[in-house]
Amino acid sequence: MNRTAVITGSASGIGAALYEQLRRQHWHAIGVDRKRGPGVDLACDLADESAIGDLAESLPAPIHGLAHVAGVPGTAKTSAILSVNTLAPVALTKCLLPKLAEGASIIAVSSVTALRCALAVPALDKLLSLARPNLLAAHEGMDGKAAYEQSKALVNRWVVHTATALSKRHIRVNTLSPGPVETPLLADFEKSIGEDRIAAAKELTGRHGEPEDIAAVAAFLLSDAAGWVNGTDIRVDGGYHAFRAAAEAATCA
Ligand code: NAI
Repeated sequence: MNRTAVITGSASGIGAALYEQLRRQHWHAIGVDRKRGPGVDLACDLADESAIGDLAESLPAPIHGLAHVAGVPGTAKTSAILSVNTLAPVALTKCLLPKLAEGASIIAVSSVTALRCALAVPALDKLLSLARPNLLAAHEGMDGKAAYEQSKALVNRWVVHTATALSKRHIRVNTLSPGPVETPLLADFEKSIGEDRIAAAKELTGRHGEPEDIAAVAAFLLSDAAGWVNGTDIRVDGGYHAFRAAAEAATCA
């Protein structure tokens, strides 16, 4: 019997590539995005909490793979950044808990920019403990770039808690953190992060990531082959951070 995977953000970029790869690997892939279209089986605005509840009700059981890929960049409104990037994975996972199979795998696409978030673990935990309106209020007026970094740092921290909480059901939970990837979001990142920084990453690695590069790691994390990978973040940046650290060390020497 085919195993079922739910992929959010399946209309475009990394989510669309993951949807295709999982189908080729004989998963029953269910794509979710804002509007129906190629790669999208169910429409849902993930910024809307009640729509997430309706989506969860309409999904079949058991679910063996849950991939939170949908995301918005730092050029979006702060409320959208926190709603889609952080609150949606948290809420959809919570709603789907009864439908997740024993031994299921959950992944969320984070970002290497989470490393730039200045908040320490206790502050992230405090934010994660807030009710939705309070979490959104806590980010009101924040610069978009910082809100994006924080939204992903919060997801990374949520994974640690969720992997621990679901370990009795042998459900694994991980994030993967891409560097720049050739998707429609890249132009927004050039605006919010700066064209020079994105170009510098390309110079160090020779090219940007392709959606398929990231999807391949996501598909691995969803598979039983990754059965001993749990509660962690996998960096998928073509070596960018290693190369940059080495260059910085050489400058200081
Ligand atoms: P993309 O723009 O190609 O795909 C994002 C998808 O999310 C789109 O199909 C969009 O419709 C969907 N989405 C956005 N808001 C939604 C909402 N409210 N409800 C339902 N669906 C919604 O972008 P990409 O690059 O494939 O992004 C996927 C993930 O990768 C995001 O979480 C992003 O933050 C992350 N990422 C991307 C990087 C890049 O350089 N492209 C780098 C690091 C992380």
